[in-house]
Amino acid sequence: MAEGFGKGGEMTPVLLEVRELCKDFGGLRAVDGVDFHIRQGEIFSIIGPNGSGKTTIFNLITGFHPPTGGKIIFRGEEITNLKPFAVARQGIARTFQLTVVFSRDTVFDNLVVGHRLRVQAGLWGILLGSRRTREEERACRDKAEEILEFTGLTRDRNKIAGTLTQEAQKRLSIGMALATDPQLLLLDEPTGGVNFKEISNLVALIERIKKKGVTVCLIEHKMKVAMELPDRVLVLNYGRKITEGSPREVSQDRRVIEAYLGKGHAA
Ligand SMILES: Nc1ncnc2c1ncn2[C@@H]1O[C@H](COP(=O)(O)OP(=O)(O)O)[C@@H](O)[C@H]1O
Ligand SMILES: [Mg+2]
Repeated sequence: MAEGFGKGGEMTPVLLEVRELCKDFGGLRAVDGVDFHIRQGEIFSIIGPNGSGKTTIFNLITGFHPPTGGKIIFRGEEITNLKPFAVARQGIARTFQLTVVFSRDTVFDNLVVGHRLRVQAGLWGILLGSRRTREEERACRDKAEEILEFTGLTRDRNKIAGTLTQEAQKRLSIGMALATDPQLLLLDEPTGGVNFKEISNLVALIERIKKKGVTVCLIEHKMKVAMELPDRVLVLNYGRKITEGSPREVSQDRRVIEAYLGKGHAA
């Protein structure tokens, strides 16, 4: 079956569309006219050398930075200048390149907070400790239970998050994002800092997320993961899209090899 096609050969709907996206930081153009779209149900990967603009694209999609130019459309609606909280409410969740968990709280409490973002009046509500209804509280705890199981953290539920292995903390941060019930999950180097043996755990989790019907956009640095997991790959270099295609197509592309290894390697 070709990428992006459903059972009957029809195209699956576009979930996210990015058009001519640009971001300047002072004199530096970190993202330079990037176009791409992500289809519902796929694992889409963004790869490229360090500093090529991958994380910045996530920051633009999720409203952490305003774009200098371009449009971001999610489920047919423009979300270009929404604040992070409003983007999360639309159904886009993310993880960060450096794992962010509440390291002094338990695994379970971290997951409860994740779901509150969804059911409550946003981050301010959480920070101000505003009252929740009992139903909301129960929904948060039920969701946390579900995510514990889904991420394989049931046995770690009462552990302090900061004491988990790097790999388990990565699963927890993915779980926190999943607790918001996203339609699109953005993962920024989910295998970063994780030793080789434990990567397969994370790969299996990402495959389960896809099976569950959540669309995944994955920034990946490890070539093995970037080539095995995604349906389609976008390759960036110096803020520009250099190519896009199946993992096999991009891995054989001379421009991609040059971007990674420098000219002269791709004879
Ligand atoms: N907040 C910021 N302020 C200034 N420059 C930034 C900021 N964020 C990223 N950059 C710059 O933008 C470029 C792209 O960075 P980034 O998106 O983090 O790259 P990647 O994730 O592909 O490694 C880099 O040159 C980086 O230094
Ligand atoms: Mg990055």
